[in-house]
Amino acid sequence: ISDKSESRGALIVLEGLDRCGKTSQCGRLHSYLEELGLAVELWRFPDRNTGVGQMISSYLANKSHLDDHAIHLLFSANRWEKRSLMESKLRSGTTLIIDRYSFSGVAFSSAKGLDVEWCKAPEAGLLAPDLVVYLDISPEKAAERGGYGGERYEKLEFQKKVAQSYKALCDDATWKVVSLDWSFSFVNIINS
Ligand code: TYD
Repeated sequence: ISDKSESRGALIVLEGLDRCGKTSQCGRLHSYLEELGLAVELWRFPDRNTGVGQMISSYLANKSHLDDHAIHLLFSANRWEKRSLMESKLRSGTTLIIDRYSFSGVAFSSAKGLDVEWCKAPEAGLLAPDLVVYLDISPEKAAERGGYGGERYEKLEFQKKVAQSYKALCDDATWKVVSLDWSFSFVNIINS
C-alpha cells in the first residue's frame, strides 16, 4: 500500500469466520489509516441498508427462507449494486476497508455444498482487492467468544465447513493470513 504512487485508493478486505474479531480490527485499521492522514472509509457486506440487503437480513434472521442458490445471488447482487460507488471512491483517492466481500460469498455458499466454480461466477467483474486479510481463528475459539448471536450461519458445525472453504480460497498472493494465536499489528501487515 505504501508504495502506491498514484492517487487511487486501496481496496482492503477483511475476511474470517463469524466472531473472529473482524469488525473490531476493521475499526482499528480505519482509525490507524485516518491518523496517517489518508482518506479512508469503512464499508461492510452484506450492506443491509439496500432493498437487496433487507432481503438478506431477513434471511439471516431466519425470517424468510430462500433457495441456497437464490441467497447466494442476492449476496452477490448486493456487492454489484455498490460497485460503481466503490469504483468512484477508489478513483477519487479514498481507501476502502471492507468487512467481508466476495470470499465470504464463495466460502459460505460452498460450505453448504454448492459448487465452488458456480459460486465464483457472479463475482467476476467486481473490483479486485489490493489486500485481503484473513483473520485465522479456530471455529471452536470463535464459538467461545461470547457466543453467537443466533443468526442462520452462527453454528459451530457450519463454521467448521466455512473454515475449510476459506482455506481452499487462500492461495492468492493478495492474501495475508493472520493467525490469532499470535499477537500482531496491522502496521506490520501493511508494511510487509
Ligand atoms: P455479517 O453482517 O458480517 O455478520 P455479523 O455482523 O453478524 O458478524 O455477515 C452476515 C453473515 O452473512 C455471515 O454469517 C457471513 C454471511 N455472508 C454470506 O454468506 N455471503 C456473503 O456474500 C457475505 C458478504 C456474508
